[in-house]
Amino acid sequence: MEESNKEEVKQMAEENTNSQQLIDDTYATIVKEYKTSKMLPWRVFVETPSFMKLVGQLTNEDIIDLACGEGFYTRKMQELTTGKVFGFDYCENFIKMAKWQLNGKGHIEYMHVDCSLPIVDIPQQFDLVTPTFLLQNAVNEERFEQMVKNIWNLCKPGGRVCGLNASPFLTRENFNKAADYCVTFSTDSDSYFEKNATEYAVTYTDLNITLVLYWYSPSHYEKTFEKLGFKNFRWIELEPFADADSYEYWKTFSTDNFMIMYEAIKPSDLN
Ligand SMILES: C[S@@+](CC[C@H](N)C(=O)[O-])C[C@H]1O[C@@H](n2cnc3c(N)ncnc32)[C@H](O)[C@@H]1O
Repeated sequence: MEESNKEEVKQMAEENTNSQQLIDDTYATIVKEYKTSKMLPWRVFVETPSFMKLVGQLTNEDIIDLACGEGFYTRKMQELTTGKVFGFDYCENFIKMAKWQLNGKGHIEYMHVDCSLPIVDIPQQFDLVTPTFLLQNAVNEERFEQMVKNIWNLCKPGGRVCGLNASPFLTRENFNKAADYCVTFSTDSDSYFEKNATEYAVTYTDLNITLVLYWYSPSHYEKTFEKLGFKNFRWIELEPFADADSYEYWKTFSTDNFMIMYEAIKPSDLN
């Protein structure tokens, strides 16, 4: 890395704002609760099967899971591929929990990395990059673009990005729409849905977890991926995978979800 770039990285790290610190601390203290949240019905019957359907069939792909947390999706994908699997997260407690849970079952390279800063030592490029709830954590537009730049640099030409995210389509009026599923949103800001990087929060009411998120417009996501060179960016709705008996319960999940997925392709011909 050039000296000027190193200086820039150092400066960005030093500028680590208070709000960034606040998220670090929140995640560090909720590792166990967050892991428990993966057992909530909307995760089991909607989020996980929808995302794994988007990921699709795997054989020997190299995969990197960004914001891997305790490795929930990293482990699932590792079971499906014979390729190399990496997981990056900036919260040390999550990385420790991820390593501990692997417990000799397969091999995943977990690394403690802040994906909102330039990633200096890219280990290799990957067929599939999965930012699983990463972009919603960017504290400003600069960090957001850096996250997408890292995704680009980590993706092989011809590779694919499959992302999971808090939905940027969620209007303030719909903040309580998922209350039946014990998920609510809130914000103190008047600029929600108007100004990029507006802070808001999600609360999993039955677990007493509140996470700080940052709203960016859907077109900001689309334009940033396009600016970096990705093609065919598309949003994908999640769908319930439940039996017919519980159809009524899941009905409101089929549209206007509070989560969304996206896919983008890095062209194989970069000329
Ligand atoms: C909502 S959790 C999702 C964890 C995991 N992907 C999952 O689906 O279970 C969000 C994760 O993003 C991580 N994170 C937030 N900002 C990050 C950043 N700048 N770089 C790397 N990880 C980050 C947090 O530490 C946390 O593990």
